[in-house]
Amino acid sequence: MTEKKVRAYTNIALIKYWGKRNEELILPTSSSLSLTLDAFYTETSVSFNADVDQDTFYLNDHLQDTAATQKVSRFLQLFREPAGISSSALIKSTNFVPTAAGLASSASGMAALAGAANLASGLDLNPRDLSLVARRGSGSATRSIYGGFVEWQMGTTSADSYAVPIDDASWDIGMVVVVVNHHEKSISSREGMKNTVATSPFYAGWLESTAKDLIEIKEAIRLQDFQKLGEITESNGMKMHGTMLGANPPLSYWEPDSVVAMQLVRQLRKEGIPCYFTMDAGPNVKVLCRLSDSAKIKTRFAEVFQNDQLIVAKPGPGLQVLTSN
Ligand code: ADP
Ligand code: DP6
Repeated sequence: MTEKKVRAYTNIALIKYWGKRNEELILPTSSSLSLTLDAFYTETSVSFNADVDQDTFYLNDHLQDTAATQKVSRFLQLFREPAGISSSALIKSTNFVPTAAGLASSASGMAALAGAANLASGLDLNPRDLSLVARRGSGSATRSIYGGFVEWQMGTTSADSYAVPIDDASWDIGMVVVVVNHHEKSISSREGMKNTVATSPFYAGWLESTAKDLIEIKEAIRLQDFQKLGEITESNGMKMHGTMLGANPPLSYWEPDSVVAMQLVRQLRKEGIPCYFTMDAGPNVKVLCRLSDSAKIKTRFAEVFQNDQLIVAKPGPGLQVLTSN
């Protein structure tokens, strides 16, 4: 039987999404902007005609528990209802990215699920509508529908909160990902951002500042001004982590090796290699650089980290439909 899989690539935010104004609809408190990466992705297939009497979800060949399956089931309702489908689904997904480790598996995972459900349901949503629906699975998945630099516009309602491609990033841009720890984190992004919005006194300052960063980074992308792009990226990521430190209880995803990696980035800059770091809800450090400098940067990091902790990524594409036998 021919089975259609959909592949979606992860994206790393340069201007972060950290907070919702509506939990149910996943409407963000601010707009964000990311770079899709080619090195990490998810492949997912959905079948509504499978011989299963309840939704059945395999991730990396492991049957998932009730909680994980329910999250996927709820999301699939967004396709089943408008398509008039009442049957249960068989979902098979493989993450070519560590799951729940701050390497954006939720973005590629939910975008691939949205793409696969779009095919299987016959809804055939266009990319903009698919981005809008992917948002309901995970905010960052909104951006993984597209390749290159992508902006998720916060919108005014659920109907206009979706991603738009900004630039295909086919210039000299790359990322060296430093995998400090690939294990599952104890506090999910969802939980972490919720508590930050509710308790951090720094949150109002974040909202004001990130809106300004977004305007400036879009100008830097338009001008292909790498230094400006990097400076805004590093500053925006640190400000997001600042909001978490102000939360009650305080939240930090950093590990000692995260700080080692950040210091090395500063050192490389002093030596004249332009590179900038950003971090998400996890201890791993992503180094934004010129792709042409990435081998040199990786070599320097290999003096401190193991080779298998270092992954060079190029800008990645949008959703892809794969056919396999
Ligand atoms: P990460 O930093 O990896 O994005 P999060 O805590 O934000 O971590 O999100 C992890 C969650 O994303 C998982 O618990 C699961 O709900 C969802 N997820 C990850 N991979 C997949 C997948 N392949 N299919 C469906 N959902 C996924
Ligand atoms: C720090 O998209 O995983 O990576 O919408 O609750 O599923 P939910 O959260 P998620 O959060 C991503 C947070 C981030 C920043 C970003 O990707 O913009």
